[in-house]
Amino acid sequence: MLEKHEKIEKSATLLFVLSFIVVTIGGLVEIAPLFYLENTIEKVKGMRPYSPLELAGRNIYIREGCYLCHSQMIRPFRDEVERYGHYSLAAESMYDHPFQWGSKRTGPDLARVGNRYSDEWHVQHLINPQSVVPESVMPRYAFLAKTEVRTDDAAMHLKANVMVGVPYTKAMLENAATDMVAQATPDHDGADAVAARYPKAHTRDFDGDPKRVTEMDALVAYLQMLGTLVDFKAYKAEDNLR
Ligand code: HEC
Repeated sequence: MLEKHEKIEKSATLLFVLSFIVVTIGGLVEIAPLFYLENTIEKVKGMRPYSPLELAGRNIYIREGCYLCHSQMIRPFRDEVERYGHYSLAAESMYDHPFQWGSKRTGPDLARVGNRYSDEWHVQHLINPQSVVPESVMPRYAFLAKTEVRTDDAAMHLKANVMVGVPYTKAMLENAATDMVAQATPDHDGADAVAARYPKAHTRDFDGDPKRVTEMDALVAYLQMLGTLVDFKAYKAEDNLR
């Protein structure tokens, strides 16, 4: 047996050909199934693409580097589940391009921060974190409340997501800019349409300034929906195996 192996090791060509065959078989076993599997992510009820306002908030989250201090992935460990809630499902980031799992936790995980605090708390905390948590090392983001959110490129952001597989419909693309304003403007005619297109979307003024739609509106709308789409009272992991 060992002599045969010696033969292989002494001949570069033979070693190369045999290694190639082994790697090819291994590769095929791993890669081939991906071509006939329809989806590698389990489908979970409740997941939907981000509304234009939430998506703008997500873009601000990425622009400001929030992910450098905050993760968005609750690992399936008891201490994490007790602190943050149900562990994160792959499907919960299926419309995230790029995903925001992160690995650095200077601050707490934000995967399920939605609905945990009031809008006023978030606004106050983002303007001056130390005013609500004195020992906080989080920087201030007061300028977000003074900066109006861009609506002219709303449809383009949705379109970019369509290109990587997010199923935004034609109606969603056509109404992107209006939906963005409607979601954060009280008594806006388009608010019902936003709620119909994006189930569970919060439609209200988020930043305490009903006259303008600011980057603060967008970021708080995003934070308030994080981890709220899947109903974990009804969710059973076994349902996805069927
Ligand atoms: C330098 C690191 C750092 C950065 C950058 C940072 N944070 Fe924080 N964040 C913290 C720390 C530390 C805490 C915990 C203390 C506190 O509540 O302020 C925190 C707390 C939070 C909380 C409260 C979470 C909870 O469950 O209590 C939210 C929400 C939050 N941050 C959002 C953001 C957003 C949005 C951004 C980007 C605009 C951001 N953070 C950027 C460090 C950071």
